[in-house]
Amino acid sequence: MGTVADVAPIKDTKGSLVNKKPTVVFVLGGPGSGKGTQCSNIIEHFGYTHLSAGDLLRAEIKSGSENGTMIQNMIKEGKIVPSEVTIKLLQRAMEKSGNDKFLIDGFPRNEENRAAFEAVTGIEPSVVLFFDCLEEEMERRLLSRNEGRVDDNIETIRKRFKVFLESSIPVIRYYESKGKVRKIDATRPVKEVFESVKAIFAPKSKQVH
Ligand code: ADP
Ligand code: C5P
Ligand code: MG
Repeated sequence: MGTVADVAPIKDTKGSLVNKKPTVVFVLGGPGSGKGTQCSNIIEHFGYTHLSAGDLLRAEIKSGSENGTMIQNMIKEGKIVPSEVTIKLLQRAMEKSGNDKFLIDGFPRNEENRAAFEAVTGIEPSVVLFFDCLEEEMERRLLSRNEGRVDDNIETIRKRFKVFLESSIPVIRYYESKGKVRKIDATRPVKEVFESVKAIFAPKSKQVH
């Protein structure tokens, strides 16, 4: 029990994505828990396409989109962008990739994200990875991330932690009730965390490669 390959993908409704029956793994965890870092490792070994909702939103700002200013303001405040915007970006990226296996990182961030994605795409995740990390460690990592992000300052970081606890933890609880969550102790060094991640992706029979 407990590996990605053990869980059957998808329902049979709506849209071109669903016709492809994609396998979707949601990658959740607080800001700075190491979602992006571990997704980079996963895609090297397991043939997934990595889609970070935050990266897609930042690219949308850079592209000069009409939503750019709104997205930028939400990110600066650590708030969650309306689902229709984020879901459109995710759908577009999934279709463009040509792949049928996706790591969706930093999404769903709240109940609205979760319910809207399922309603619009008909897709349910096979598995939900939860990178569980101590807040003080996440704070340390974010303050030394050095990617020039407008939200990696102590004031916004505190707001993001609050949003994580109030809005994102309930999503994790929801998937826990469905038996889909694989919780990983993400406070450890990158390599150790990846050893735990690998065990989830590589089943005993080794068919996921
Ligand atoms: P997230 O995508 O969850 O916000 P990142 O993967 O961007 O997190 O990691 C945040 C910062 O912490 C980055 O600078 C990254 O290099 C570093 N980092 C990631 N995982 C670890 C770890 N296990 N131990 C120490 N630093 C880490
Ligand atoms: O995941 P990441 O840390 O890159 O997200 C940065 C910001 O992007 C979040 O704090 C939030 O403002 C926005 N975001 C969002 N909805 C998502 C993912 C990210 O609004 N599903
Ligand atoms: Mg990230």
